Amino acid sequence: MEFRHLGRSGLMVSEISYGNWLTHGSQVEEDAAKQCVQAALDEGITTFDTADVYAGTKAEEVLGRALKGVRRESLEIFTKVYWPTGPGKNDRGLSRKHITESIHGSLRRLQTDYVDLYQAHRFDAETPLEETLKTFDDLVRQGKVLYVGVSEWTADQIARALKIADEMGFDRIVSNQPQYSALWRVIESEIVPLCEQEGVGQIVWSPIGQGVLTGKYLPGQQPPEGSRATDKSGSAMIARFMNDDVLTRVQELKPIAADLGLSMAQLAIAWVLQNPNVSSAIVGASRPEQVRDNVKAAGVKLEADVLKRIDDVLGSAVERDPAKTQSPPSRP
Ligand SMILES: NC(=O)c1ccc[n+]([C@@H]2O[C@H](COP(=O)([O-])OP(=O)(O)OC[C@H]3O[C@@H](n4cnc5c(N)ncnc54)[C@H](OP(=O)(O)O)[C@@H]3O)[C@@H](O)[C@H]2O)c1
Repeated sequence: MEFRHLGRSGLMVSEISYGNWLTHGSQVEEDAAKQCVQAALDEGITTFDTADVYAGTKAEEVLGRALKGVRRESLEIFTKVYWPTGPGKNDRGLSRKHITESIHGSLRRLQTDYVDLYQAHRFDAETPLEETLKTFDDLVRQGKVLYVGVSEWTADQIARALKIADEMGFDRIVSNQPQYSALWRVIESEIVPLCEQEGVGQIVWSPIGQGVLTGKYLPGQQPPEGSRATDKSGSAMIARFMNDDVLTRVQELKPIAADLGLSMAQLAIAWVLQNPNVSSAIVGASRPEQVRDNVKAAGVKLEADVLKRIDDVLGSAVERDPAKTQSPPSRP
């Protein structure tokens, strides 16, 4: 495993981290979840990403149990707050009340005294940014949270948060967690340049396009049984990539991966890691073999001619519109 700084902070994270959205507490059984976490640890992954909302809070419990007994100092545990965790008006968003209640729930479920990174899972248009940032800063001072980050915030939202933090002396955001893959490059034109300048690192999600970039989904054919595209909660999110144009182009990446002696998943993960603003690629896995395949992308260098071949193949299937970075206009 290779390690990178999380943005300009002193925290080191594994280049490849393990995330448990849609898997722990839902798609996969607890035994398989534990095996995936054990495979991640065996392969040198130290960074684990979850959220209060995953599987209706069950994902944090599964991760907490799976990591039990591992030396806490050897792990970086990331979680998030924003999406609803209960039926009440205050069970969502980034108010002082919800953030404070949510971190207590997360720490209890994860069986830890602190999380290494606490992330605002989206921007909350209904809470003053100062209230959110002050609450995060208080959690840092209380030692419950070591670093603060955001997820899917626009460049403008990140810039405003950094300005407030600098003016008020609050702890600064060190990371952003956006979707980023060879197929989804919407952060490149605005967010990455700002974040490079400000020392904010990207911890990117769905680097394999939720499995699409493995090439296992064939154009004109039913998805393989047991894959995310057949899962009841996963199929809606993956749908944007499940069309014949994208799937045909992805098949044409196979010779590129083969020439490099890489699996398709390794090529996809290596692709996001070529961007120096990326601190870590968060991969998901429903089986331990996938973890073992995926980690081999760490440290792989892709030359300019390879990147050009990938661009030529994916062509107009690549999404680049910065306006695709969005949070709900009001709390969900
Ligand atoms: N901040 C956010 O809003 C946000 C949103 C989404 C995700 N995330 C984070 O990012 C993490 C990763 O997201 P993701 O799970 O969508 O990422 P991904 O790595 O692009 O997709 C993972 C899925 O692809 C399939 N797969 C992975 N490796 C494979 C391999 N070697 N061969 C074949 N299939 C393979 C598996 O699904 P099947 O086996 O079921 O097909 C696996 O669950 C999440 O767990 C979460 O921590 C954050």
